[in-house]
Amino acid sequence: MAKHVVTLIPGDGIGPEITTAMRRVVDATGVDIEWEIADAGEHVMAEYGTPLPEHVIEACRRNKVAIKGPVTTPVGTGFRSVNVALRKELDLYVNLRPAFSIPGTGARYEDIDIVIVRENTEDLYAGIEFEEGAPETAELIKFCAEKGAGIIRPDSGISLKPISITGSERIVRYAFEYALANGRKKVTAVHKANILKYSDGLYLDVARKVAAEYEGRVEFEDRIVDMTCMGLVLYPEQFDVVVLPNLYGDIVSDLAAGLIGGLGMAPGANIGTDCAVFEPVHGSAPKYTGKDMANPTAEILTAVLMLKHLGEFEAAEKILSGVKAVLAEGVNVTYDIKRTNTGSTDGAVGTQAYADAIIATF
Ligand code: NAI
Repeated sequence: MAKHVVTLIPGDGIGPEITTAMRRVVDATGVDIEWEIADAGEHVMAEYGTPLPEHVIEACRRNKVAIKGPVTTPVGTGFRSVNVALRKELDLYVNLRPAFSIPGTGARYEDIDIVIVRENTEDLYAGIEFEEGAPETAELIKFCAEKGAGIIRPDSGISLKPISITGSERIVRYAFEYALANGRKKVTAVHKANILKYSDGLYLDVARKVAAEYEGRVEFEDRIVDMTCMGLVLYPEQFDVVVLPNLYGDIVSDLAAGLIGGLGMAPGANIGTDCAVFEPVHGSAPKYTGKDMANPTAEILTAVLMLKHLGEFEAAEKILSGVKAVLAEGVNVTYDIKRTNTGSTDGAVGTQAYADAIIATF
């Protein structure tokens, strides 16, 4: 039996191509992994009647570690994101998104080393929504008016933003524990508590309480989300570990990906108490599907995170060094990297050839 059994969800769009590249790179390190393939997405709807079959969730639970490619969320078909559903089902409350510079990507910044810790289960992503014109929406509007909470226009759609003490405490605590375990110096809690007093205000209160327990060990500061965005662009070196509620975390992690050369470079992990699902920040990039063009770096760096989680530090280091070497050389790189480096995609290689170049460094 293999040392590790990992659930592999290839996803759709560019997912199958970049996960194939990732798997080839991981296997080439010699690490002993058995991949258990589990399909999710629109293409399994006809067979299972759902884009996220129960056996896929079960496989993640059983193996405790999964890695996935992106899964498309079709617009207007009525099904919610498979990615969000999986995080919810497995209570993967942490979305960890490290953004670190690798020379050779043509990124605008050179020394970025920021870890985004995004809350993954509540906030506006809780999926509690009231459609414009629906009777329950009218009832909610009436309730708010009667209770003196405020007047909502009758032709409104409403999305709720629940933020709990439980949810806030565990994510902020994770950020501090991550900082301690990884030799990080500072945690920044991001919010909009000046406007959203009962949701973000609660989050900030909880963050301050948790931070007090780590005083003297990890520095703490809080920042308003808009100022954070400006600060990340102007003075990214001021940030270390950044912990945010779900929506701000989603937006700010793409901003952080921009600092290191784009979405093709940004790895990620969804972590819960019992189980972890690793996935890059980016989506399924439909326009590049099947073209062997997409940049698999984010997926490969996601595997690096996974290997560290599995305690396979040597294999993780081997891959990271390989990625760095290939990017530094700048020859066998995908179109996006070629374009940022030279202004043209001429000479770019495909997804699998880039993976081959990494493997050749082993
Ligand atoms: P996207 O991340 O797929 O694409 C944004 C831009 O980045 C596009 O120009 C795309 O071509 C480019 N890009 C993304 N990944 C790339 C890569 N590896 N190499 C080169 N270029 C890359 O975001 P978009 O277009 O908003 O979403 C497409 C679909 O993906 C949607 O259905 C969305 O719901 C889904 N999605 C899934 C995620 C997941 O599975 N975790 C995360 C984000 C979006």
